Amino acid sequence: MSRFLSAALCALFVCSVCSTEASAAGNATKGKAVYDANCTACHTAGIGGAPKLGDKVAWKPRIKQGEAVLVTHTIKGWKTPGSTGMAMIPKAGKPNLTDAQIADAVALMVKSSK
Ligand code: HEC
Repeated sequence: MSRFLSAALCALFVCSVCSTEASAAGNATKGKAVYDANCTACHTAGIGGAPKLGDKVAWKPRIKQGEAVLVTHTIKGWKTPGSTGMAMIPKAGKPNLTDAQIADAVALMVKSSK
């Protein structure tokens, strides 16, 4: 039982570290794994008009909005007005991703694309 308790406390601690980080900018290093598992399918090849990782021209106007806006668009979904491409679907269709994981992946994209 005490082992369970300490495991629970440990999880709580890790969780509070996560949420502290979520309110700040994401962590690009941690975002690599999130990107590779959930974002690369569209953002590496530019499927459906997705801005490609590392494409500075495509990312410039998006990055201008600020990283917080990009994170919100990734969580809630986003379609550029007038775009004939696909929309960014909420959380890339993976509702189990945490907001912090999304912020980390966005941080990686921004860092690699400016
Ligand atoms: C099924 C394809 C697909 C997947 C998977 C996907 N995206 Fe996207 N994403 C898009 C498309 C298409 C757009 C362009 C939408 C537009 O601007 O109309 C986009 C746009 C974006 C933008 C720019 C939003 C803006 O405000 O300009 C961000 C940031 C982004 N995606 C992050 C992510 C992250 C992070 C992941 C992984 C967790 C991810 N995407 C996974 C298709 C995808």
